[in-house]
Amino acid sequence: MNTYIGIDLGTSSVKLLLLSEEGRILSRATAEYPIAYPKSGWSEQNPEDWYIGVVKGIKKLLLGQDKSLVKGISLGGQMHGLVILDKNDNVIRPCILWNDGRTQKQTDYLNNVVGREKLSRYTANIAFAGFTAPKILWVRENEPKNFAEIEKIMLPKDYIVYRLCGAFSTDYSDASGMLLLDVENRRWSKEMCDICGVSAAQLPALHESYEAVGTVKDDIAAEFGLPHGVVVCAGAGDNAAAAVGTGTVAPGNCNISLGTSGTIFIVGNGFSADKNNALHSFCHANGGYHLMGCLLSAASCNGWWSDSILNSCDYAKEQENLDSLMGKNKTFFLPYLMGERSPHNDVNARAAFIGMRPDTTRGEMTLAVLEGVAFALKDCAEVARSNGIEIASTRICGGGARSKLWRKIIANVLNIPVESPIIEEGPAYGAAMLAMVGAGEYESVQAVSDALIKISETVLPKADIVKHYEKRYDTFKVLYPSLKAAFAKFD
Ligand code: XUL
Repeated sequence: MNTYIGIDLGTSSVKLLLLSEEGRILSRATAEYPIAYPKSGWSEQNPEDWYIGVVKGIKKLLLGQDKSLVKGISLGGQMHGLVILDKNDNVIRPCILWNDGRTQKQTDYLNNVVGREKLSRYTANIAFAGFTAPKILWVRENEPKNFAEIEKIMLPKDYIVYRLCGAFSTDYSDASGMLLLDVENRRWSKEMCDICGVSAAQLPALHESYEAVGTVKDDIAAEFGLPHGVVVCAGAGDNAAAAVGTGTVAPGNCNISLGTSGTIFIVGNGFSADKNNALHSFCHANGGYHLMGCLLSAASCNGWWSDSILNSCDYAKEQENLDSLMGKNKTFFLPYLMGERSPHNDVNARAAFIGMRPDTTRGEMTLAVLEGVAFALKDCAEVARSNGIEIASTRICGGGARSKLWRKIIANVLNIPVESPIIEEGPAYGAAMLAMVGAGEYESVQAVSDALIKISETVLPKADIVKHYEKRYDTFKVLYPSLKAAFAKFD
């Protein structure tokens, strides 16, 4: 037997899986790390905390396992974060994360002064506050001393790859979210590097996600008790890794991820871009392309509502008996706790409950939170539809996907079947699958997906509930435009 380690470097924690080559989970581990919000709308993490978490996680994962069987490691990582290293390989400042909204000025400069048309021509995308290029401009403008010290620019999971095997590398799926990659041609954009004042030498070498970029350094292998020569693959952005981990690899396939963020990920038939760039046009981890809408807050809305407001971590209990209310709720929730990426591209947007009356219940407000995220996913699906893309069904993964009620709501709001793979840990599972391809266990991402991914349950939409939700979505979609000007006045 050969075994593979898949690592999901998430925002709140790192999740690790040890898989056999036929996809059986032999062991699981997690380790948490802190997130800092130094100012309203800012979010940062210390890359050293990720590394400590990964080391702790790998040690836990391998406890009692036959370590000599491990053949490969790969990661799926939170995207867009700016990690900068100086000439001595020291991290210069904390990583500015994917959901940090400090770069409105730089984002506006890119979209309005450089211009959307040029950005789209150079990268197939426009600027969003969370993307990496606006963060580089922010550091250049606000921390010139730090900017001058930059020797290497990398993404979160690339930092771990660098520590594990010494390769200064990234993969096309994650690099797509930097706004420095010419996505269609899979190469760094010289024009974007010039605009950001960086050179290609400061950027990592580009690889397909399933390519081996090195082997675990001998001293680190010894610390874990791993054999010599364990392959480290380039890995993928967490959404592309999740798509692989749910078998979302053939053209037209769709995956929804309900993690801290919420994403709807549609595999392309070759390269394409949304005509208004409201959806991201990125490389996939299988060598192809995909379109993606990203909500900055998804399962985190339910976490905030239940943990912080209701003081109840028992999500299942909070959601008990709410099925019968589906489609009848009068309360709306806008899920923009951290501003919103897709499709509104507005860092000022904020969350809101709307429509409460004296008889509104705790349950209706809980339901409204789940529905609000589903409607926001529909906003993205509608953009795909306006580009002529019909989504026939979707896979689903992430912590939020454990809620059957939420899966039902999504099936009815989007009016499509929602399929849950047997393994729910999309990104970590997908990362281990990429490691299998990189180590030569399977010949392609499609082959490993065909062999490993099985569906455990499908939730189908019901015509009467779909109808109710269509009406409610008509109201939902006028709420954000009505509040946009007010949001812009909030501090
Ligand atoms: C995708 C995005 C998020 C992060 C979360 O564009 O920003 O999904 O990758 O980890």
